[in-house]
Amino acid sequence: MLFKQVYDYLLERIQRGEWSEDEKLPSVRSLSAELHVHRLTVFKAYQMLKNNNKVYVKDKQGYYIQTGAVMPFHSLQDPIVLASVQGSSLSEIHDVKVDYQFSKALLDPNLLPNHYFAEYAKKVFDLYPKVLGTYSTIQGDQELREALTRYFTEKYRFYITADELLVTSGSQQAIDLVARALVRSRDIVLVEQPTYSPAIDVFTRLGARMIPVEIHPHGYDLDQVEMLMQQFKPRLFYMNPTFHNPTGYTIPAEQRKRLVELAQTYRCLIMEDDPYRDIYFGEKPPFPLFTYDTAGYVIYIRSFSKYVAPGLGISIAVCRPAVMRELLRAKSISDSGTPLLSQKIFLHYFFSERMQQHLVKLRIALEVRKEIMEEALSDTGWSWESPQGGFNLWIRLPDHVQMEKLLETSIANSITFVPGYIFDSFKGFRSWIRLSYAYLNEQQLREGMRRFISLVPAPSGLLEASQ
Ligand SMILES: Cc1ncc(COP(=O)(O)O)c(C=O)c1O
Repeated sequence: MLFKQVYDYLLERIQRGEWSEDEKLPSVRSLSAELHVHRLTVFKAYQMLKNNNKVYVKDKQGYYIQTGAVMPFHSLQDPIVLASVQGSSLSEIHDVKVDYQFSKALLDPNLLPNHYFAEYAKKVFDLYPKVLGTYSTIQGDQELREALTRYFTEKYRFYITADELLVTSGSQQAIDLVARALVRSRDIVLVEQPTYSPAIDVFTRLGARMIPVEIHPHGYDLDQVEMLMQQFKPRLFYMNPTFHNPTGYTIPAEQRKRLVELAQTYRCLIMEDDPYRDIYFGEKPPFPLFTYDTAGYVIYIRSFSKYVAPGLGISIAVCRPAVMRELLRAKSISDSGTPLLSQKIFLHYFFSERMQQHLVKLRIALEVRKEIMEEALSDTGWSWESPQGGFNLWIRLPDHVQMEKLLETSIANSITFVPGYIFDSFKGFRSWIRLSYAYLNEQQLREGMRRFISLVPAPSGLLEASQ
């Protein structure tokens, strides 16, 4: 129910201390405009907060924070409380040890050319004998940055210099650095609905206010985006426009150009997160938004964890100098540079002939796995949009399915998947799930899907989970 989602959202903000005790909360009218929900929905959420002693009503003027509703400062400092309040449930699901892992958007390690990695590691030690005794610079190894600068300029017309590229330890770190460098408490941030859930955690922790932008198979509603930018003056739009996680949707080229124009007009930065670009099954996806940006509004993040080597944890952030200065400051607080050994191995492996051959084979292997999963689903009557790239299927199950119960039963049967609500700051998408086809081999995929499908109850509820 929508009012419950609004309730959860407000409760989280209250507990985090966004308002102090006895401070007045936004009016029903302003909150309904902010969240794009009916006033009655906000009213019901406030009533529930009142019944649960989180807020009180004063002089019929509005709602105020009740004493004791805000978490005390010391408990917010307690890492155990922090983890439970703000922890990513995605990582909790990933941590469960099961035989059929549909929850991880990660490549099957057997699809990586593991036995060749040792050769590259040896080559790196021969070429740079002191590599383990040396820190990288904060911005990243010069040789790697220059090679990547040429790569992005030739391939995607970025026209950047090596000073406009930062090497980070995975793109999760890049998202965090950009957010910490540029977003302040109470800033408005646009996020796709649904979105990559650790990004929700990053913005939540900073105290930013997130406004959802729906993503559809053919892109965003640009009128909605413009209206939101005009009305709320967001600081940032965090997006994953190419083979989006979790949906697999891709924003078309025409929208990309227009989005960059909108960003310039309304002075809203765009954080373009692009880890799946190279995993396409048919045509190559359209150019990144960064290609169209001439005024420095787009920050481009590209992880190479997804298909080069998750163990190296290499990602980059590309942006113009003013933003780069801020990112460097944030990175220097976070670590003393991404490990040089990882960067050098990545450099020699990524630009090798072998890597390019590997990538071609990888696309085929993943497409075959996607088709196996789709074939297994073909008689279920569930709906999904077949993605043209990426690692995941975003599937709508029948409305009667109780997601928490299904997850529990699945784990008991050694299967994990990710419930849709994890990807939404409003905890919607109650009937949706994300299944990754990238982590299991073909045989495991067939068997795991057969078992999983048998666990989903038929509409009457008569068909109980089989063991
Ligand atoms: C959209 C998106 N962004 C960022 C990441 C994190 O990437 P990394 O492993 O480089 O931190 C992921 C990983 O699943 C992702 O799907």
